[in-house]
Formats: sequence, structure tokens, C-alpha cells
Amino acid sequence: MREAAKVLSQARRVVVFTGAGISAESGVPTFRDALTGLWERFDAQALATPQAFQDDPDLVWGWYEWRRTVIRRVHPNPGHEAVAAIEARTPRSVVITQNVDDLHERAGSAGPLHLHGSLFEPRCASCARSAPMPDGEEPSEGRRLAPPRCEHCSGPVRPGVVWFGEALPEQILETAVQEATDCDVLLTIGTSGLVYPAAEIPKVAAMFGATVIQVNPQPTPLDAVAGINLHGPAATVLPALVTAAWPSLS
Ligand code: APR
Repeated sequence: MREAAKVLSQARRVVVFTGAGISAESGVPTFRDALTGLWERFDAQALATPQAFQDDPDLVWGWYEWRRTVIRRVHPNPGHEAVAAIEARTPRSVVITQNVDDLHERAGSAGPLHLHGSLFEPRCASCARSAPMPDGEEPSEGRRLAPPRCEHCSGPVRPGVVWFGEALPEQILETAVQEATDCDVLLTIGTSGLVYPAAEIPKVAAMFGATVIQVNPQPTPLDAVAGINLHGPAATVLPALVTAAWPSLS
């Protein structure tokens, strides 16, 4: 912790790279957690593909609307708040997230780069125009729900997220890689580091000479990339890291 706090406080450019684990303590299930209710029989990854939406649009749209309801009901946790504090103390910093929730924004992070899109940007699956966000709330056990139709072409509306097998938003990926090559410190938080190309980001930073600090209660393939591994939950480890890095400001 002491070494991590020292390099963080001395860094000029910091990249904070996050995954589902940072939102876990807010009550958002990670992708590898077992699901409940209607979703019990499904694997989250099997619902997150273009093929799944094509085969059963009501199931997949219902799943994403259920996730959006879960996220609207929860709050950023001290981990998200610590990330915003790191940004405030290191003006040349950026958050790159794989998460499709808006908890970084709600904690005060300015313009996180959403590598895997957002639950709050539905668009037409046929003509790609953005679509209005539905305002209903989903029951806690989940349900099948027909996707709305596009106002322009009547195509089915899909969630604005990146599914397995789809390309990441080109401009966002390019900016993220550029930021990784330029930073002094990359903090990788709450990601299994299994999904590519996102998992390249910490590797790029390490290759270009940054110190990689990982925060995760479990071992991951990024253990070998990280110069410093802080084992523990983000909502505990990150506030402690901020206090240790900037004792007089905390
Ligand atoms: N604090 C920090 N890390 C945690 C916590 C916590 N409280 N709880 C769990 N974790 C860690 C787990 O140990 C695991 O390594 O968070 C990680 C979650 O891994 P995944 O569920 O695989 O999430 P993520 O890495 O974000 O997945 C990447 O895969 O399914 C796709 O597109 C989806 O963006 C997602 C991508």
C-alpha cells in the first residue's frame, strides 16, 4: 500500500481502468456471479451476443432493461468516489471503464471512456439511430420484454452496449490506447482481465513504462502485469489508497 500510494501521489498522468468488480459493492452483479430470478438458467455471457438478440429479442431486451432498473436503484460506492478523488488530485487523468453502468459519472468522474458502451444509450438495431430511453421499471425477478420499435425505420431497438463478437467503438478504443501509452500509473480495478481487447489496456501501459497497480480480492491474469497487487475489495482498498497518497487532503 505504501509503495502504491507513493507512485500514485507522484504521478502526472493516471489511467484508472475499471471492470464489474468496482460496482459489485453497490449491488450490481459481476458477469461471473450466479444469476437469480428469470435469469437463473442463463449465463450472462450467453445473453450478451448479437445472436442471442436475434434468436430471442424479448429475452435479451428484458435482461438489459432489468439491469438498467438495478443500476438506477443503486448508488456509487466509496470505490467510485475514491476514483473521482484520484482524478481531482491528478488533473491529467482519465477513467477507462468496461462497465455499462453510470456509477463513475454519478460519483463525479468527468467523462469516463465507456469501452463497452452504455445501458443508457439505446439505438436501433437496423439503422443505428439513437432511440429514446424507455422509462418503465422492471420487476426484481426480471421478465421478457419486447424491444421498442425505432421511430424512423421500425427496426427493433437494442441496448447501446458492445456484445461479444462486436467491435469496440473505434474512437474510444483509440483514445484509451493512447492514454495507456502516455500514463505514469495505471490502476486496474475489479476486472477479471479475461475479455479482449479491453484487457490489453493495462498491458499497453506496462509495456510503455507505467507502473500498473491492481486492486482485486482474487488473483487474475493481470497479476503478472501489475507491479503492485493490492488484494481486497475496491470500496475498502481505494479510499485507503487515496488517504495514504494524499494524507493532508483527506
Ligand atoms: N472489488 C474489486 N474487485 C472485485 C470485487 C470488489 N468488491 N468483487 C469482485 N471483484 C473482481 C472479481 O474478482 C473479478 O476479477 O471483479 C472481477 C469481475 O470480473 P468480471 O465479472 O469478469 O467483469 P469484467 O472484468 O468487468 O468483465 C469484462 O466481460 O462480460 C463482459 O462486457 C462484459 O465488460 C464486461 C467484460
